[in-house]
Amino acid sequence: MSVPVLTFFNNKGGVGKTSLVYHLAWMLSDLGQRVLACDLDPQANLTAGFLDEARLQKLWERDNGLPESGQTIMQCVQPLTEVGDVRLPILERITPELSLIPGDLALAGFEDTLSTEWPAALGSSSLYRPFRILTAFSIVMQAGAKQMDASIILADVGPNFGAINRSALIATDHVVVPLGADLFSLQGLRNLGPTLNRWRLDWKQRKDNWAQPAFPLPSGRMQTIGYVVQQHGVRLNRPVKAYDQWVNRMPEEYARNLLGDHTGSYPPTPEQDAEHALATVKHYRSLVPMAQEARKPIFRLTTADGAIGSHAAAASDARHDFEVLAKKILERVKFCEG
Ligand SMILES: Nc1ncnc2c1ncn2[C@@H]1O[C@H](COP(=O)(O)OP(=O)(O)OP(=O)(O)O)[C@@H](O)[C@H]1O
Ligand SMILES: [Mg+2]
Repeated sequence: MSVPVLTFFNNKGGVGKTSLVYHLAWMLSDLGQRVLACDLDPQANLTAGFLDEARLQKLWERDNGLPESGQTIMQCVQPLTEVGDVRLPILERITPELSLIPGDLALAGFEDTLSTEWPAALGSSSLYRPFRILTAFSIVMQAGAKQMDASIILADVGPNFGAINRSALIATDHVVVPLGADLFSLQGLRNLGPTLNRWRLDWKQRKDNWAQPAFPLPSGRMQTIGYVVQQHGVRLNRPVKAYDQWVNRMPEEYARNLLGDHTGSYPPTPEQDAEHALATVKHYRSLVPMAQEARKPIFRLTTADGAIGSHAAAASDARHDFEVLAKKILERVKFCEG
């Protein structure tokens, strides 16, 4: 049995994907889950959130040299760009219940290999290698999950529809869509829905082409389980009306573009869209740099980190909000996993 993979995806940049993965990884582990976080964005912001510079430098400057294991996602898939096979990950243990497969700026170099093998998986001979390459992220994440006996995998990806993200999504069971309250974010949904549909179908076509796979292939389910409204994307000098105007279009745009629901009847606000709106994430303002500095989630900030007075209250509110969101996500994942 594979471990469920949850990916936070929107091709619009800066909508809080990485921040959500980071905070939910901590929160889910606080709730008793065994969590593996995986950084599949070549910008590696998630990794920089978890690890300090000294550790990053060590990981990125040099491959561990072992033929069978890698310390970053790129070190794991790199042999596939030559003649080798996937290396299994050496996990970064953040806590006993939370580990990370570190990202790597060099991962961008894997994009071309993935693009080349995409059509090859539809060919009539030698299918092993194209499938090995296209499912490399899945193989690495599932192997990592097995090592730590993880109950859930959270993946962070960059804001684009490139071949790296296509492979990340092939490895994905459930998708959460973070949305900022602006035109770009909603416009992004119009591309996201059709792209996920196409990737699902294209992957199925490839799987069907390999009648007797030599190793387990991911289902490529990519089931969207809801959206998260991000308040932080809102520019402070913009009138409130504009914020409401965009936010209130989310239920319709999400239903139409991600669910193919063209009934014409949609909840007027995300608050009334309980089925699909998972949460509204507040703008945490000065708690954000404080948490980054302490290399902690906002809801773990203490007076020693500078969270005093209203900051302490906001950190405690954040704990409540993330707990509610994490529980909602878990419920949906469990429901979908049946
Ligand atoms: N709730 C929040 N309150 C305040 N600032 C936030 C919040 N969430 C994220 N941010 C800030 O907004 C910026 C973008 O967030 P983040 O990096 O999580 O977005 P992203 O969608 O992963 O971006 P990219 O598409 O570039 O990967 C970051 O500087 C982050 O610290
Ligand atoms: Mg990011």
